[in-house]
Amino acid sequence: MKELFLLIAAIAVPTSACERDLPDAHWAKAVGRELQDIQARAEPFPPVWSKNEEILHTSFDKAEIDTWASYYTHGDHIAGRNKSMAEETAKKWNANGISSSLVEYEVYLNYPESQSLVLNLANGSKHEAQLIEDVVAGDETTGAAGSIPAFHGYSKSGEVTAEYVYLGRGHKDDFNAAKAAGISVEGKIAVIKYGGPFRGTKVKNAEANGMVGVVIFTDPGDDGPQEAKGQAPYPDGPARHPSSIQRGSVADIAHYTGDPTTPGRASKPGVERETNPSVLPGIPSLPISQRDALPILQALDGHGSVLKRDGWRGGLNTTYSSGPAPGVALSLSNKMTDATTPIWNVIGIINGTNADETIIVGNHRDAWIIGGAADPNSGTAMFIEITKAFGELLKTGWKPKRNIVFASWDAEEYALVGSTEWVEDFAPWLADTAISYLNVDIAVNGGYPGASCTPELRGIAQSVMKKVIYGQRTLYDAWYDLYRFRPTDNGFGLLGSGSDYTAFLQYGIGALDFGMGPSSTDPVYMYHSNYDSYHWMKTMVDPDFSIHTTAGQFLALLTYHLADDALIPYDTVALGKGLMDSVTQVTSLTINCCGDASRTQKAVNLTQLVDAAHNFQSVAQNFATITSARDFQADDTKVQDANKRLKQVLRQFLNQTGLDGRPFYRNGMQAPNRDDGYKAQTFPGPVEALQDKDLPRAKEWDLFLTDALNKASALLTLT
Ligand SMILES: *[C@@H]1O[C@H](CO)[C@@H](O)[C@H](O)[C@H]1NC(C)=O
Ligand SMILES: *[C@@H]1O[C@H](CO)[C@@H](O)[C@H](O)[C@H]1NC(C)=O
Ligand SMILES: *[C@@H]1O[C@H](CO)[C@@H](O)[C@H](O)[C@H]1NC(C)=O
Ligand SMILES: *[C@@H]1O[C@H](CO)[C@@H](O)[C@H](O)[C@H]1NC(C)=O
Ligand SMILES: *[C@@H]1O[C@H](CO)[C@@H](O)[C@H](O)[C@H]1NC(C)=O
Ligand SMILES: *[C@@H]1O[C@H](CO)[C@@H](O)[C@H](O)[C@H]1NC(C)=O
Ligand SMILES: [Zn+2]
Repeated sequence: MKELFLLIAAIAVPTSACERDLPDAHWAKAVGRELQDIQARAEPFPPVWSKNEEILHTSFDKAEIDTWASYYTHGDHIAGRNKSMAEETAKKWNANGISSSLVEYEVYLNYPESQSLVLNLANGSKHEAQLIEDVVAGDETTGAAGSIPAFHGYSKSGEVTAEYVYLGRGHKDDFNAAKAAGISVEGKIAVIKYGGPFRGTKVKNAEANGMVGVVIFTDPGDDGPQEAKGQAPYPDGPARHPSSIQRGSVADIAHYTGDPTTPGRASKPGVERETNPSVLPGIPSLPISQRDALPILQALDGHGSVLKRDGWRGGLNTTYSSGPAPGVALSLSNKMTDATTPIWNVIGIINGTNADETIIVGNHRDAWIIGGAADPNSGTAMFIEITKAFGELLKTGWKPKRNIVFASWDAEEYALVGSTEWVEDFAPWLADTAISYLNVDIAVNGGYPGASCTPELRGIAQSVMKKVIYGQRTLYDAWYDLYRFRPTDNGFGLLGSGSDYTAFLQYGIGALDFGMGPSSTDPVYMYHSNYDSYHWMKTMVDPDFSIHTTAGQFLALLTYHLADDALIPYDTVALGKGLMDSVTQVTSLTINCCGDASRTQKAVNLTQLVDAAHNFQSVAQNFATITSARDFQADDTKVQDANKRLKQVLRQFLNQTGLDGRPFYRNGMQAPNRDDGYKAQTFPGPVEALQDKDLPRAKEWDLFLTDALNKASALLTLT
């Protein structure tokens, strides 16, 4: 999965249809500056590499990535259904010199049996939705035998016929606004557009409001201007094919991830299972295309209200009236087959000379469709070459200082299942040894770099970008050009949820998620549809797999530095800044949340928290200064001691009781926003308490975080 966002049109590349011209002069032109402005940055080009960096960078072969991209995207590999693909992956990693094997769990999944959706108009005429995409010329997997129809993973089986109501993006606030406008939703089917909250959150909101089913559609208003400009739909051009459907999970991942029946424990055979997991929806749902959404929405025109909410209206030719319309109903049928079935992670290991420190690098392998050329197999294909690059390095006799674990996760799409079960399985070892988790999900669906991470990884990520060649420039040049206007975070986003870093974060392990994405004028990414295919990748995005190569080189070099630099390359200064940003958000919320600001500020006196964050910032700065000195770095005992401290710093924010109502989410630093599912919420404890106007609870969390910050400061205080 993964949250999707488009880079703004301002940096868009003015190319026609399928033409790609990356990554040189356009970057500069797009933001209205000349190329020499950018080259004026004093970074050497080509980059200067150490011997090991050179081996890693130069062992990538884009033709090999192409071969494996084709392999991964021509067979059913929905979670738990393709053991041979896991075995082939392990075999290839072993051949590349990385000792690899399958790690199996037995998990609850469900698979589609039969699905249908019929619109019943008041005059008796009917329209049946097409729950699979059109077969298109040239794209072989769109017509493959055994193509997987559209459905929602973990959806509830059921059959309902009822009037229906359009509810925008299905955010909690959309429901509240509908209620305030007097729209009756109870007993009706919700029609909701994609975008905004995670789809499982949309379904949960509908259920909480007494609705009996949910239909989620793709709205072309969320694409770029391709269609408006008259550009042809795929396969003839970059616009969205009107039959594309977004499959995906409807589990409530903001509550917990992994096998729904085994929260907090690994799904080994014989494990105790919940019979009625709270993260599974209680009402059926289906995804549909924009083409089938149109008559459904048009039938509501003139009935109910058009709410003035962000994103309520979209790009279809309809008024986006809420309805209901008398006598206009949907018949939704969703039959799923339950299974408790094996899934297979592939785990490859290079032992470090120091067994106490570990870097984990992962990507999921399963997809909702036979393709999955971007999500996730752009990453999977690239991983073949990452393991080869490390195999080449091992041949020279090199051994990393830290353990490196390569992971190919299964069942990510259902609820980050493979990675969560593995983290739960190895929790004590990870608590003892994990330094960082690096994730790629959609490695490539465009040419623009994007990354989210915990702040301590910002510095090393940026310096590694300077070592990676991207066309006639470095990857950092591309990054700098995009994000130079965001000095507060240097362009790095925050991690919420939606991919395999989630469980790691909740065990106090910092993480980074990286991928190359599209701008709004690039070919539209038809996420989780049959058009996320090898043919689409070849003709629209990365014909020669050079963008894949760049992404892989970045990840290989980042892994290398995290695993082999004598001092763990954490950016403690960025961490201090990030924590201060989180504190600032809490303090501003106390002014706005609960009526009388001075009363709130007295009740939740944040003075100590602010002081603790300031103190951490200065400690973190000192730590960076002391540890960067030549004498310090030459002293192995001091370096080992500093590493032990760094390893523990994020763990200080773990709270074993977890967030209120969400015991799985234990990281006081951040969690997925409870009303969104994808987006991050920093310092969720006090923030949620303030949102709930529970001032005593906000104060308790304030004390917890003050204490955590003080412990982190004590850890990083070198004497
Ligand atoms: C597993 O995936 C491979 C590679 O795409 C494919 O050749 C094979 O048919 C798939 N196996 C099953 C059981 O679908
Ligand atoms: C019913 O109404 C729809 C939409 O206005 C129209 O397309 C259809 O032809 C009508 N069917 C009958 C049987 O009148
Ligand atoms: C939009 O729909 C209206 C009627 O619902 C129709 O008259 C109009 O031609 C449509 N416009 C387009 C661009 O299809
Ligand atoms: C790594 O070390 C562990 C523990 O010492 C050992 O069991 C394992 O065989 C080693 N693996 C490799 C690939 O060397
Ligand atoms: C908060 O507490 C500090 C002492 O820790 C005190 O000086 C300050 O006046 C208090 N602020 C408010 C708004 O009560
Ligand atoms: C977790 O945080 C809560 C604050 O809401 C606190 O009461 C509790 O003591 C914390 N637990 C631990 C183990 O620190
Ligand atoms: Zn994915």
